[in-house]
Amino acid sequence: MYENYMKECFELAKKGLGKTSPNPLVGCVVLDKDGNKISTGYHSKYGENHAERDALLKLKNGEEEGGTVIVNLEPCSHHGKTPPCVDLIIERKIKRVVFAMKDPNPIVSSIEKLKNNGIEVIYGVLENEAMDLNEVFVTNMQKKRPFIALKTATTIDGKISTRTGSSKWITSNKSREKGRELRTIYDAVLTTSSTVIADNPNFNNDFKILLDRNLRVDLEKKFFKSGKILVIYDEKLNNSVIDNKIFCCKKNISEQQSENIEFIPCPVKNDKIDINSMLQILFERKIMSIFVETGGVFNGSMIESGFVDKIYHFIAPKILGDNFGQSAFSGRSIENINDCINYEVQNIKKLEKDILITYKRANG
Ligand SMILES: NC(=O)c1ccc[n+]([C@@H]2O[C@H](COP(=O)([O-])OP(=O)(O)OC[C@H]3O[C@@H](n4cnc5c(N)ncnc54)[C@H](OP(=O)(O)O)[C@@H]3O)[C@@H](O)[C@H]2O)c1
Repeated sequence: MYENYMKECFELAKKGLGKTSPNPLVGCVVLDKDGNKISTGYHSKYGENHAERDALLKLKNGEEEGGTVIVNLEPCSHHGKTPPCVDLIIERKIKRVVFAMKDPNPIVSSIEKLKNNGIEVIYGVLENEAMDLNEVFVTNMQKKRPFIALKTATTIDGKISTRTGSSKWITSNKSREKGRELRTIYDAVLTTSSTVIADNPNFNNDFKILLDRNLRVDLEKKFFKSGKILVIYDEKLNNSVIDNKIFCCKKNISEQQSENIEFIPCPVKNDKIDINSMLQILFERKIMSIFVETGGVFNGSMIESGFVDKIYHFIAPKILGDNFGQSAFSGRSIENINDCINYEVQNIKKLEKDILITYKRANG
């Protein structure tokens, strides 16, 4: 009965994409006592009003009394940057609250309070879709780490470059434009020393992370010219290498930009940045979601680590047909096909000549 309004909540919630972190995406529809839609709202930005508050504060004449609040996430019951939405719902004499999913944040528990105030509560409407919409928030709360989305662009045979490293361009303009758009909905884009050295990308994002274990990437690269940048390096690296890099950074990059570049030590395992430790460091710094854009070596390590929650796979209708071309994921040595790492298809979209398949991790 409330499914269509819930879908409208999802669309309203999406207006906050890329702006609400570390908060979830939330949209709200308010009906009057006769079931007529009288207001909508959404959480537009971190620190701004929650969706229910946004929708209810637009109503000035009490027309919501006896009405229904529909929202995709359980209303909050705690004081955060804004007062609890549950209190406003009670104050505005709402008769029924319908929501899609319970808040995975353990400090939120509003059902009891709503019921104790005589409000009917219905929940579980389009719950799976709601969980997908807030996959970042759910991962943050349940797994206490950033959500990881990995993007790769390949030929039909899964190659990201030729044996000589030639890779510009595999996919169409439209796909690359879509790739740039996807970057902006995550808190940070992450890449490696090898990819920056090979491609000299600038990744015009506000927040970038570079894995550079030995601080070998030249500061002249476009990557360093803009945005806030975290450079992750081996915590056992010799002090003189670090001091020299920081000195060069101050000398070769504008004063303003060099203040945006921070060098962060990280534990290393088997000569590789330890992915688990790195994610904990980034999570402590409130980086809630990361868009990984790297080559086959790091993609392979990341997949093997088990932390990749989502894959955006752009496929161009081209075949390289060369075993020495670089694969999108490398590094494993598998004999039995049952030892594959499994994902499930979430979405398929055609982009000019290419397709974009979105996968999420399969359960179990
Ligand atoms: N088609 C696409 O979507 C796409 C996207 C990005 C890149 N590319 C292509 O990929 C090519 C580069 O690929 P690549 O495979 O050589 O490099 P890569 O996968 O981007 O990076 C590998 C490097 O990452 C660093 N690293 C840090 N922690 C690691 C860990 N835990 N496991 C593995 N590596 C770790 C290592 O360098 P340090 O030891 O220096 O830390 C390692 O050499 C470029 O030619 C580029 O064109 C394609």
